[in-house]
Amino acid sequence: MTRHATQPIDGQKPGTSGLRKKTRVFMQPNYLENFVQSTFDAIGGVRGKTLVLGGDGRYFGREAASTILKMAAANGAARMIVGQGAWLSTPAASNLIRQRQANGGIILSASHNPGGPDEDFGVKYNSSNGGPAPESITSAIHKRTQEITEYHLLDAADPDLDSVGETKLGEMTVEVVDPVTAYADLMETIFDFNALRDVFKAGFRMRMDSMCAITGPYAVEIFENRLGAPAGTVTHGTPLPDFGGMHPDPNPTWAHELMDEMMGANAPDFGAASDGDGDRNMILGAGTYVSPSDSLAVLAANAHLVPGYKDGLKGVARSMPTSAAADRVAEALGLDCYETPTGWKFFGNLMDAGRVSLCGEESFGTGSDHVREKDGLWAVLMWLNILAARKMSVAEIMADHFARYGRNYYSRHDYEALPTEQAEAMLDDLRGRLGELKGTQVEGLTVESSDEFSYTDPVDGSVAEGQGFRILFEGGSRVVLRLSGTGTEGATLRVYLERYAPGPDGLDHDPQEALAPIIRATEALVGIRERTGRERPDVIT
Ligand code: G6P
Ligand code: ZN
Repeated sequence: MTRHATQPIDGQKPGTSGLRKKTRVFMQPNYLENFVQSTFDAIGGVRGKTLVLGGDGRYFGREAASTILKMAAANGAARMIVGQGAWLSTPAASNLIRQRQANGGIILSASHNPGGPDEDFGVKYNSSNGGPAPESITSAIHKRTQEITEYHLLDAADPDLDSVGETKLGEMTVEVVDPVTAYADLMETIFDFNALRDVFKAGFRMRMDSMCAITGPYAVEIFENRLGAPAGTVTHGTPLPDFGGMHPDPNPTWAHELMDEMMGANAPDFGAASDGDGDRNMILGAGTYVSPSDSLAVLAANAHLVPGYKDGLKGVARSMPTSAAADRVAEALGLDCYETPTGWKFFGNLMDAGRVSLCGEESFGTGSDHVREKDGLWAVLMWLNILAARKMSVAEIMADHFARYGRNYYSRHDYEALPTEQAEAMLDDLRGRLGELKGTQVEGLTVESSDEFSYTDPVDGSVAEGQGFRILFEGGSRVVLRLSGTGTEGATLRVYLERYAPGPDGLDHDPQEALAPIIRATEALVGIRERTGRERPDVIT
């Protein structure tokens, strides 16, 4: 008997990046099963297909993987390629889908959200190009969850996920692969590993904080084993079901241990961190924090120094709230530059069409067309390769970059877990006043224009509306406001602040000070403090 009757469950609507819920919600009877069967149904079934499966090692991942394998077998799948221990970083999963020409893949992760029985879990479907499913598929999945009546699950023992090799689950082949090898091999084809080995041999000091999440084994293999960095370069390198209690989001707030070390005396030359599923990154030098928007711009300006990009980039793309620092580089290099809504899925078409090779987001995501996800360790290797080629420190590279292109001072202020109605009312009110803001003088700034961002995909013509509010001030400063699409509790308001300084003076201010007038103007125009009662943001990046 593989057929099980079920009923639709409310709220199974994928967000910015798959379905994310509290782990206990996922552990309810039929919850995971309904969503996975709906996914299978929405992609036309899995009969005869090959899928990749793995996740970031968080609590419930292994159990979920077993259930999904039994469901795939009962639904007639031919082969499932699974990371050993049900582990695969998101970029490694994307790589496997592409390399093995699989029909798609399922990633078990809630990315940078904490893990554990009382924290978050998530399921995401990626298509055959290795990238997150487009909106057309995620809405088909959601629709199916509302009408589902049965799912299929093989009555069998849990498959062995710990031994590399092939076994049978019913008629289906389960192929357990080492999660790291194929990914590490791919990195060797992009970067100059010989030059990097020399850098470590010469005493270069690096700290990689894997935050008890999935990149630990990858980082140890790449930096310590293949590149010869000293043992212990990677900290928090063992993936744990609850991430050791850490909040695996690589930003100055959550990666504070790394921040303290990099800002302290005797800091290493280079520091980096990655998130739960390994697609985000934070870059630091001794005493230097590199904002994600600046990181994208530096990578764009220096990519030709890396073997994988020696012939130059096809083009660059960034999400709308990301600063325009990369646009200045693109302009100087004569590259096309695209502005997309928040969410990596919007880069997929541009990469598939060969229009861009480098993409980035302010949310600590950077990547290229080597896979179809953002890629934390790839970004770290880009920086390492650029540091090796230019023989400069991170601080020197940043100063040189700002001197050449000017500086886009940038910061994001997050107000977390606001009552949803309150946050929505605040933005609805702003929407109602958007048209009247032009010409408003506030805190010494004049509003030049304001709108709500909508995007027409240049490849397939699809339209995404309501993608965030933009208020532009005369002189090139701006504030962007939107609600997060990845949270699981209430609403998170994100306020993105940007101010351009052309230089040569005024390039080395503290970003919060440089942005103070825009922060005050935002309060005057939107009234965040007044409406929410929050004195300050919960997270500042
Ligand atoms: C995930 C997506 C990113 C996106 C980020 C922020 O990490 O993969 O593409 O930028 O979420 O989303 P949010 O809606 O929370 O601002
Ligand atoms: Zn992630």
